[in-house]
Amino acid sequence: MSDSVRIVEVGPRDGLQNEKTPVSVADRIAFIEALVGAGLHTVEVGAFVSPKAIPQMVNSDQVLRGVNRRSDSEFHVLVPNERGYEAARAAGARVIAVFASASEGFSRANINCGVAESIERFRPVVASARADGIKVRGYISCVLGCPFDGEVKPQAVVDVAKVLWDLGCYEISLGDTIGVGTPLKARHLLRAVAGAVPMANLAMHFHDTYGQALANLYAGMEEGARVIDSAAGGLGGCPYAPGATGNVATEDVVYMLEGMGIATGVDMTKLLGATNEVSRLLSRPPVSRVVSALNAKVRAQS
Ligand code: HMG
Ligand code: MG
Repeated sequence: MSDSVRIVEVGPRDGLQNEKTPVSVADRIAFIEALVGAGLHTVEVGAFVSPKAIPQMVNSDQVLRGVNRRSDSEFHVLVPNERGYEAARAAGARVIAVFASASEGFSRANINCGVAESIERFRPVVASARADGIKVRGYISCVLGCPFDGEVKPQAVVDVAKVLWDLGCYEISLGDTIGVGTPLKARHLLRAVAGAVPMANLAMHFHDTYGQALANLYAGMEEGARVIDSAAGGLGGCPYAPGATGNVATEDVVYMLEGMGIATGVDMTKLLGATNEVSRLLSRPPVSRVVSALNAKVRAQS
């Protein structure tokens, strides 16, 4: 496995969307730029969703307009419908993400419509984006279990993945929204979805609610998956998935990959700096074990 992995940093969106303490536009921009400075070149920076649904993501247009567009960085934003698409495009989005679910219950709770209807909403969004030269990523939530419907069959994920891929998404990110997956299930899921979408175009988006995310990622990597979504410090969760906690921590992923001889290009010291600063703003310590260990080491040395 000594090849490369691409990390998509989702902390500024998936992380901050679930934090009670609001973070200002200026602080969100500073966080994003600190992450890019640490070597994370693909960052999900906001969401053009209803402010009633996710108040933490208001002013995502200002965030997107405010970040320094280095030529080597790529910023993603979530878009649920045509209205969100128009706002994202006007703010200069180059990559958007639409988000569907493999389960009906979560789809209704999250975006107030069933899975089939959500696809019909995305169809014109993806068509407009492609006509405008904007790349579209497709998320599927609840790929290893749903907080409302329980077990989710791999075939349900395969079906949605195929539709999003056929619509024109360049990458399909598989969300274990409530972190209930275990390695063999993750592995079987990747294998099943890779029958419909090339493995190179699949991403693993695993929340760490049950502490299984790293093991699940490793299992997915053994199957050939090479794109990992993670959040600095393990920030995150989804307000519409009761009990969901943060994404797998970027620090934990980087530590594991570097230990396996897979270069990530991430400067761990700078990443720790970004995470510690956002933790200070949120007044809560990061949940990442690697962050705790490295912070303790730094304290012991000073
Ligand atoms: P709705 O109520 O069915 O739609 O919501 P609506 O068209 O009736 O609009 C409701 C209100 O939202 C109206 O405002 C609209 O104007 C406004 P009001 O008249 O009540 O004042 N509105 C908008 N405002 C701003 N931007 C927009 C927009 N659209 C409508 N684009 C809707 C449907 C999809 C809009 C709503 O349910 C929503 O915004 N949901 C977003 C939920 C969300 O962001 N969840 C978290 C992200 S998904 C996630 O975290 C999972 C992921 O990480 C993967 C994983 O882990 O599984 C991606
Ligand atoms: Mg998520």
